[in-house]
Amino acid sequence: MNAHSKKISFHDFQPELESFREAVLDGLSRKPKQIPPKFFYDKTGSKLFEAILEQPEYYIPNVERALLQKHADEFAELIEPGAILIEPGSGSCEKVQLLLESVLPAAYVPMDISGDFLQQSAFDLGQQFPWLHIYAACIDFTHKMILPQGVPQGRRVVFIPGSSLGNFDPLGVQHFLAGIHRLVGKCGGLLVGVDRKKDHATLNAAYNDAAGITANFNLNLLSRINNELNGNFERDKFAHYAYYNDQPGRIEMHLISLEDQLVNIAGQDFCFTEGECIHTENSYKYSPDEFISLANAGGFRHKKIWSDNNHFFSIYFLEAY
Ligand code: TRP
Repeated sequence: MNAHSKKISFHDFQPELESFREAVLDGLSRKPKQIPPKFFYDKTGSKLFEAILEQPEYYIPNVERALLQKHADEFAELIEPGAILIEPGSGSCEKVQLLLESVLPAAYVPMDISGDFLQQSAFDLGQQFPWLHIYAACIDFTHKMILPQGVPQGRRVVFIPGSSLGNFDPLGVQHFLAGIHRLVGKCGGLLVGVDRKKDHATLNAAYNDAAGITANFNLNLLSRINNELNGNFERDKFAHYAYYNDQPGRIEMHLISLEDQLVNIAGQDFCFTEGECIHTENSYKYSPDEFISLANAGGFRHKKIWSDNNHFFSIYFLEAY
């Protein structure tokens, strides 16, 4: 134990108890077949996701990083000193590092579904910011949003970088915002990154990187099912398939079956026809008007918006009313 470790605590809300098995068996029995995206993040999935963030076609991290750096002092002023900063889906805790020295929160609460990964990231963050009180919560934030015991009082502000909110459908965003509203209370804050509508070539390239990392990330779901649920997927009989669907305004990610085939999972057979898809994720893109009306419907008013010069991506500071 080092001197910093008192400042870091780990709280396991056991997200895995919400069964991967049930979700997969249920999702593959539906038409169209689907699996919720939260199951991407086993240890391998979390690592592959970090690699996606470094692909040149995936523009979001660079654009967002530049905005966070450029406007850190403005964010800090809106967040207010001594705040409790809460990050659902914190992953490697990389983005928040750009804010910590300006914001100086009384506590930071990273939340992630991947326990090992969360523990490692919280530990690394503590090494870099020895003054920071970290309450790491291993939790499925799409299911419940509660704070670990011991988190001090203070203005609560939720931080959601990286366009994670885009992975909910618009109704899901409203439910999620309502949950955040309950967590932060009236006048609580939300600093959130939102990807914008743009030319389709840029969008399609972002989710089809040339190195094939996003494809691997998507296909890793099949390996996870094989490993954890005694499945017999043959990965090379499926392909990553992602495209921008203009009408709903979202990137859709699927796993497409390359032939007619039967797959057995946990003793159950599932039939795939050639070209049949498992829908694994959506990533909605919003114009500022669209996003502001969603935020309003969820009980938040926008205080300020920042965007890059290309209008690729925006960061919003919202306040609960
Ligand atoms: N939420 C981000 C987005 O939709 C990051 C992300 C989630 C992502 N799942 C992904 C990026 C799959 C690429 C592939 O852009």
